[in-house]
Amino acid sequence: MILSTSGKFTHADNLPTTREADLSEAMSIFDVMYNCRAMRRLDTRDVPEELLIRLVDAANQAPSGANRQRARWIVVRDAAIKQQIADLNRRAVVAYLATQPSQPDSLPHHSGQKRKRMFDAVQWQMEHLHEVPTLIIACLEFDTKINQNTMVTDAGSIWPGIQNLLLSARALGLGATPTTLVTTDHKSLAKVLELPETMAAYCMIPVGYPTGKFGPVSRRPVKEIMRFDTWK
Ligand SMILES: Cc1cc2nc3c(=O)[nH]c(=O)nc-3n(C[C@H](O)[C@H](O)[C@H](O)COP(=O)(O)O)c2cc1C
Repeated sequence: MILSTSGKFTHADNLPTTREADLSEAMSIFDVMYNCRAMRRLDTRDVPEELLIRLVDAANQAPSGANRQRARWIVVRDAAIKQQIADLNRRAVVAYLATQPSQPDSLPHHSGQKRKRMFDAVQWQMEHLHEVPTLIIACLEFDTKINQNTMVTDAGSIWPGIQNLLLSARALGLGATPTTLVTTDHKSLAKVLELPETMAAYCMIPVGYPTGKFGPVSRRPVKEIMRFDTWK
């Protein structure tokens, strides 16, 4: 049983296993991975609670260092809390965008025009974050008070779960983006989320129904990023 923020108990025990569920219906795991773009423009429709639980349950199947299973997930739907997170995110995004040229340079694999579109979407997300139906915050819980060292060395134990969550969202037709700028002021974020001193927030994933279309990701060709045996 899971106690949701709406105060209702929800039966999560009878969720289907991945084998029985969504992936078999339409997309293969490879289709999902190759079409899992950052979807920042989301509409205001609520995401059904059972889908939110499904996402976190899938995230929770990911591996963790020494199987410690320290990952914790906060699913924020409350308007006042979303607004406070959106305010923190705005401060970080404004500072970040100020460091970017108005006409971004091209990277070898990402044209200036595409980068401009990405920064426009980051700005859109900043302006509309409080309207997005759900913000999922990926955290780790430690045995002792967090410090910079534990936060860095253990970060690898949260990201597999975040990727599971992103892939599951895509498979279920939900848009999502991993974001970390909002964690820049970790102290304020921890206060908003009422985190104990033993918990750290690593990533915020806005989740909702996309206003645009899903499409393929664009990545460098494998021959550029792979060698057999040594890097020579
Ligand atoms: C570690 C990490 C941090 C990120 N932080 C942010 C962020 O703060 N804000 C944001 O809009 N996107 C953020 N992103 C999303 C990336 O910009 C996005 O995944 C990347 O541009 C690839 O986009 P695509 O999958 O649509 O090609 C982050 C992604 C990662 C992996």
